[in-house]
Parts: sequence; C-alpha cells; structure tokens
Amino acid sequence: MSHKIAVLGGDGIGPEVTAEAVKVLKATGAPLEFEYAPVGGAAYDESGHPLPPATLDLCKRADAVLFGAVGGPRYDNLQPAELRPEIGALLALRSELNLYANVRPAKTLRALLQASPLKGTKGAIDLVVVRELTGGIYFGKPRERRDNGTTAVDTCIYHRFEIERIGARAFEVARARGHEIVSVDKANVLETSRLWREVITEMAAANPDVKVSHMLIDNCAMQLVREPQQFDVILTENMFGDVLSDEASMVTGSLGLLPSASLSDAREGHVFGLFEPVHGSAPDIAGQGRANPLAAILSAAMMMRYSFDDAASADRIERSVEEALEAGIRTADIFEKNCRLVSTTEMGDAIAQRLGSG
Ligand code: IPM
Ligand code: MG
Repeated sequence: MSHKIAVLGGDGIGPEVTAEAVKVLKATGAPLEFEYAPVGGAAYDESGHPLPPATLDLCKRADAVLFGAVGGPRYDNLQPAELRPEIGALLALRSELNLYANVRPAKTLRALLQASPLKGTKGAIDLVVVRELTGGIYFGKPRERRDNGTTAVDTCIYHRFEIERIGARAFEVARARGHEIVSVDKANVLETSRLWREVITEMAAANPDVKVSHMLIDNCAMQLVREPQQFDVILTENMFGDVLSDEASMVTGSLGLLPSASLSDAREGHVFGLFEPVHGSAPDIAGQGRANPLAAILSAAMMMRYSFDDAASADRIERSVEEALEAGIRTADIFEKNCRLVSTTEMGDAIAQRLGSG
C-alpha cells in the first residue's frame, strides 16, 4: 500500500527545498505518492487566503504533510492577523490537524562540529526538544486588545489531557534514546506550570524506566549554553519550547540543517504528522539555487521514521547526508575552505545518488 504525502512548499525557498526532499524520498524506493497544494503568501496571492480550504482538505486526506516554509516581508502587516502566513497557515494547520507534539532534534553533525559557537567539543550535542504545540499562550482565549489599543491580553491555559498526551510522546521519544527527560516549566511563578509539573511527576512515577527531572525555564536556557550535553529529551510547553528549540539548534552550529516533526495521534495504524525544516522562508535568497535543502531532506527522514515506521529508510537518508558532508559537499551557507560548493539541486542529487547506491 502506498502512502500519500501532501507537499506544501509555501514561500521563499520553501518550494526549492521541498523539491529536493521529494527527490530524496523517491530515491528511497518506498511506495509514496505526492500531491501538491499552495500555502502561505503564495496561496494568499492566488486565492486571498494563506490556507485555502482545498489545501486543508488535501492535508486531512493525506497520510503525512511535507511542509516547506511560509511568510515574507510582503505579508507581515496583513490585517486581520489571520491573513498572515504564520498565523493563518502554520498555526491554523497545527490546530486543525491536531499536531500537538512538536519533535525537534538538535544534533551536531560531525562534519560541522567547528560551526558551534561553543568552544571545543562542547557543541557536540544530541538532544530532542519535545514541545507542546497546540495549547498554552499561543491559543488561549481571550486574546484581545482593548481600550483604544492601550491594553493587550494573551491567555495561557493548559488542560490535564494536553499535558498527558505530550508527556506520553516524550516518554516514547526518551525510550528510543537515552531514557532521560528534563521537563521544563516556570512552576515557581505560573499556575499552568504547577499543573504541568504535577502531571509529569505522576507520569514519571508510572514510568520508572525513564529518568525524569524538572528544571525552571530560565535555568534551562542557561544550562543549554553551559553544558548542553547533559540533555537527552527536553519536554516543555508551547512558548518555552519555541525559545529553547531555537537556542538548542544554534548550539549545534547548523541552525539551517535542522528538521522537525509535528505529530498528531495514530490514525489507521500510523502517526499523522507534518514535517518541516526549522529554518524559515529566507526570501532574500529565494529562487537563486543557494538554499540548503538538508533540513527539508532530514525532515523527510523523520517522516519515514515517525509516520511510516520505516526506520531503515530514515537511517539511510540520515547516513547519506552525513556522508555527503564528510565528502566536503557544501551549499553556500555552510561553505568552508577546500570544500565543493554546490547548488540546492546538486545537494539534493548528492543525497539521492548516495541513497541509490547505499
Ligand atoms: C516555530 C516558529 C513559529 C512558532 C512561528 C512562525 C509562528 O517560530 O515554528 O518555532 O512560534 O511556533
Ligand atoms: Mg520558533
């Protein structure tokens, strides 16, 4: 049976990098079908909305979504805010598709170790941020601005079931790795954090094979630059996860190479998810063949691993990326002396060829 993938390239470099991810997925030989739909500013230009109903519908019918990037300066000031690609497309997809579990690995690629801003081998990290993605202050109501623009309100709400389901995901992720979770909150100040800590503490007692500890967000932000190797899985809520995942990705030194998965529940035997590079749409280099497609390609590997339970294909893709980098193949963003500078499509070819022969 073949899997159906909705491909939403989006804006800026999004379509270029997703095209390379599709190329690599095809090279795995796995039975996959691809269907394309517009999203983001590109969709707004075409139809007046960043997430047209037909695009949402395609995602709902697909087994997984391969997402590029959305947004650009032309769309930053659209009113109402729901027309902006980030809110009207990305946040809407997360909520409509119930993508509550955001899995963001931050792993230093050996060939790029010297790119970490931390000294020596300190930046050699391998951790995963498991971020709650459909609750908290991003989605809480009321969300209002009143009194002629003098007062603004955002509401942070967490329900027990939301904490339990993201917690369960974090335990699964930890079991496939180092069996350690650091749950991050602000329990010394926030009531939502106290509930969070209470629920995770109960879950820890019921899952003694995984070591669970708790850390306050400010301390965690500091520990991530002091000694990032101490972390295996960082479990946290939406807003803290947004910040910590950017911080962790910077520590690897290869921000532009990091993939992510946003997962829902299992449906008909597989986990539905949206897979996207952590980097944005980079409109300044769009259409020039300069974008680095490796984050999109590694996101495709996560799709094989998490949605289609095909760890073998995921491993092959990840190995091919490491091999290409070790062979000195580089796009402009990670270029170093004595390396071979390649374009977006040439990088995709390099990975696809290695897969074909591997
Ligand atoms: C991310 C991004 C988004 C977020 C923005 C674009 C809405 O920063 O995926 O981390 O805050 O979640
Ligand atoms: Mg972010």
